[in-house]
This record gives sequence, structure tokens and C-alpha cells, in this order.
Amino acid sequence: AKSLRVAVLGCGAVGSQVVRLLTEQSDDLAARVGAPVELVGVGVRRLDAPRDVEVPDGLLTTDVLGLVARDDVDLVVEVIGGIEPARSLILAALDNGASVVTANKALLAEDGPTLFEAAEKAERDLYYEAAVAGAIPILRPLRESLAGDKVTRVLGIVNGTTNFILDKMDTSGAGFSEALEEAQELGYAEADPTADVEGFDAAAKAAILASLAFHSRVTAADVYREGISDVTAADVASARDMGAVVKLLAICELRPGPHGDQVAARVHPAMIPRSHPLASVREAFNAVFVESEAAGQLMFYGPGAGGAPTASAVLGDLVTVARNRLAGTRGVGESAYADRAVQPMGET
Ligand code: HSE
Repeated sequence: AKSLRVAVLGCGAVGSQVVRLLTEQSDDLAARVGAPVELVGVGVRRLDAPRDVEVPDGLLTTDVLGLVARDDVDLVVEVIGGIEPARSLILAALDNGASVVTANKALLAEDGPTLFEAAEKAERDLYYEAAVAGAIPILRPLRESLAGDKVTRVLGIVNGTTNFILDKMDTSGAGFSEALEEAQELGYAEADPTADVEGFDAAAKAAILASLAFHSRVTAADVYREGISDVTAADVASARDMGAVVKLLAICELRPGPHGDQVAARVHPAMIPRSHPLASVREAFNAVFVESEAAGQLMFYGPGAGGAPTASAVLGDLVTVARNRLAGTRGVGESAYADRAVQPMGET
């Protein structure tokens, strides 16, 4: 059978695991897709950077734009992260007729509509399950499995670093700085922890969750955001006295407005009762709690970060997109969204 040819852009923590799975599981992937899935190039910034995987000879290239412009590439996996050059590369790939899988939450939250329109115009798939909560299947359940229901609220613990810090504060009585230092020593928090501790990462994920849950267009700028750097040991202790625990929550809700339902999204530390399922989410795990009219309450739980778990979600998308491509069809895409008003940031 004709093989499906894959280019991977980025070979960091996630990219190297994508390359590893593509190589090690190529027989299984071929069986599941119905055709061989062939890695034809890995775009990187530096050829000599240290990597967790041995990339097969001749596949590494620094000419990333040249790689996506090749006319024999069917599928492009973008795991570079950040806004540019990721956006230009994804747009070039779609324009060139490739289907795209990305894990880029920051880009989707800032400028998703530009990407969705480009995918529509090119009539190609754009899948991004790995962008929110790593390995946890949550975007497709919201977009597909629950599409016949009415989701009313989504509560997410979608940042592992802050959950680790708050959990540490809760179990050891440590203050924020001490818990952050430990998170950094263990490799959960980055040297510059701003994006995690100030809630920017969670706000990007909230925008993506709210968009899919409510078939709407929500960007990071629409999300009220407050991080955890002002949470003190005393706050955590008094929550404990009340039988509660402090978590950084992404809260996406449908609220009645003057002209129909409105979407509201916010990220802030919140006290939740210890009896709530989200209170059991410890260490750096993630969970998304969904409330809908017919299904009631559901919780999706698992590892929200890390190279291999995130690569698991990327590969799942890759298999779906590859099957679609072989069948000459596309997934549900993003075209069918309700033009629902988004509540201005900070209004509660
Ligand atoms: N920094 C993120 C977290 C990684 O701590 O959850 C996954 O997006």
C-alpha cells in the first residue's frame, strides 16, 4: 500500500518520544492505519543538541520550512511549541496539502481561529488532543462523544506544576516558595516558572476547553486569570480546617445572558471540599471534571505532561488523521461552532 509520510517538527521532550514511538511501533501503527507510516524528516533548530532518542540517519534537518514544503509529506506533527515559527509552519503545511497534528496550546489559545480557517480552506485535518492535559483524552470526548449532550460546566486541574506545589503545601505545610523550589528540583517546574505558577498555561488550556465544550470561540485573552504565587501556608491550613483543599482550577461555564447563553472562563485558586473527586488529584496529575445535562458528571484523569504521555496523545491523533487521509475524508473539524457570546474577562 502507499505509505503515509510524516514530518515531525521539533525534537524536544515530546518530539523525541513521538519519533521513538513512530519508529518502535511502526508495524502496529501500519496495521492500525492500514498503510505503512513512514517518518521522512525531523525538523530541529540545532543538529547537535542532546536528544533522548536516536533519530535515524539523515532524517534531521534544520531547514524546517523546506521540510513542510516537500511535496511528498502527508502528515505534519508540530511539537515545537510557542507562537512563531510554529504558526507559520502549520499554515505552510496546510497550504501545502498536509494534515496537521499539534500539541501547541499557546498557539491554539491565542490564534486558533486562524489555524481552523486555514484547515477549512485547505480541507485538511487539524488535530490537537495533546494540547490540553497531556495523555488524557478530553478534547475528542468534548467535541465528539458529548456532542449530542449539553455541557454546562468544565472544571479542570490542567497544570501539573501548580497541582504539585499546592499538594506539597497541603501535605507538608510548606510555603509557596519552598514547594516551588522542590518542584524545580524534581523537574516539574521550569527555571522560569511564570507560565505555570501565574496561570498562563492553565488559561490557554481553559480557552481550548471552553471552545470545544461550548462549541464557541474562546481565546486566552477572554480568560480571567490568577495564579498561585499569593497562596500562603495559612490559606492552605485554613482550607484544611474547613475540610477543603486549594486547587488551581480552570472553570468554564455556560451562563444565561440577556441574549441567550454566554460562555465564561476563568483560572484561579479555589477551595474544593475534600469529598469532591477533584480533591483526590495529587502530585502533578491532571483531571477534567465535566457536567452535562444528560450524562451528569464525568471525570477524566491521568498524566497531564511529560514526553511519553504527551506523545501518546499525539500518536492517537496521528493514527486518526492518517486513517482519514487514506479514506479521503476529514474529521469533524472546527467549522460547526455556535456563534455564542463570550463573557468579557473578569465579569463574574
Ligand atoms: N507546564 C505544564 C504543566 C506542562 O505543568 O502541566 C504541560 O502543558
